Amino acid sequence: MKLLITNIKRLVQVYDSIPEIVKGSKMNSVPYIDDAFILLNGDRIEDFGPMDEVSKIDRNEVQELDATGQFVLPALVDSHTHIVFAKSREEEFEMRLNGKSYEEIAEAGGGILNSARKLAKMSEDDLFEGALRRLKQIISLGTGAVEIKSGYGLSVDAELKMLRVIKRLKELDLVPIKASFLGAHAYPMEFRENHQEYLRLIVEEMLPAIAKEGLADYIDAFCENGFFSPEETDYLMKEGAKYGLKPKIHANQLAVSGGVQVGVANGAISVDHLEQITEVEIDCLTNSNTIPTMLPSCSFFLNIPYAPARDLIAADLPVCLASDYNPGSTPSGNLQFVMSLACVKMKMTPEEALNALTINAAYALELQDEVGSIRKGAKANLLITRDMDSLAYLPYSFGENKVDTMIINGEVF
Ligand code: NIG
Ligand code: FE
Repeated sequence: MKLLITNIKRLVQVYDSIPEIVKGSKMNSVPYIDDAFILLNGDRIEDFGPMDEVSKIDRNEVQELDATGQFVLPALVDSHTHIVFAKSREEEFEMRLNGKSYEEIAEAGGGILNSARKLAKMSEDDLFEGALRRLKQIISLGTGAVEIKSGYGLSVDAELKMLRVIKRLKELDLVPIKASFLGAHAYPMEFRENHQEYLRLIVEEMLPAIAKEGLADYIDAFCENGFFSPEETDYLMKEGAKYGLKPKIHANQLAVSGGVQVGVANGAISVDHLEQITEVEIDCLTNSNTIPTMLPSCSFFLNIPYAPARDLIAADLPVCLASDYNPGSTPSGNLQFVMSLACVKMKMTPEEALNALTINAAYALELQDEVGSIRKGAKANLLITRDMDSLAYLPYSFGENKVDTMIINGEVF
């Protein structure tokens, strides 16, 4: 069955061919067609154009949807999430309200280790149900492709359990999903004084088992003071490369950690967080193909600095935004809120934020030929907004859900 969406007020991010990643000053423009139609055939975009050309479409056996007053965008892409987890952690939120820091809670065995203890006790089926509920929730809020990390397992069995859940989510063919292996998320208590042994577990036991079952697309590490050092991260990225896993790493969240340099040196697809970077890290990124990814909802929730988006864009870099949806530092996968924070707190324009959440985010998952733009042959995952007059309404009207309808695989979701 085909779906024809007509009278679209503005069809946004339209391209004739796969767009290049959007860098620097180019991030401030977004191509569009006013008073447009788009025709979907199965899970693909078949055609689109101005309404005065809609007469060329054979409207037999075509379902129609009128979008008068509404914008149509490519569904947003969330290139960094941790949506497979057992339980929320609002008790730690309250501890932080009472003055404890994220680092202090982690140091005392809370944080990631708290999530790992809860996940170890949960069955694969229950984990799958929870993650699927979150996946459907973020789709309804605008997301049409997503990356999901392991990293709350921290043992061979529990990491495999998480990655198998992600594989089952992939197999639903709901939205494109990429899986990242994040065994190096935190040192379990018993390995705090024996890093070597945990690194051995990752390299000799987790990686071969993951590769054997084809459970991961990428390898990640939390390169941070008190977590994994640049040297340890470098070692793990090199071991991951032996299995064809490209790095996407957590870098420079809490301190100038050396994570950006390690990521770039290992050809990382992206380095994510970047709340703590200097000119040295920005210079390092300008000589690379590594995509700087910023997670402003994490800055909001932990009340830490925001990544310097303006400096990165001024350096002609292609910046990306993502949610970081996880139970500790960012219990939200709402990319509409990410867009508002990017504009209000990081001084990005609505156009820059949209490029960061569509084309550049698609590149951060190597899915640029599938999602992130409106193009013939691309996947028919679309976001239809409520009535609005300009793109700026999206970040402006924070807290309101601007999604009227999500189209996933060519069908109303
Ligand atoms: O990206 N920084 C490391 N990982 C997550 C937080 C994980 C947690 O607290 O559970 C993040 O912020
Ligand atoms: Fe994260």
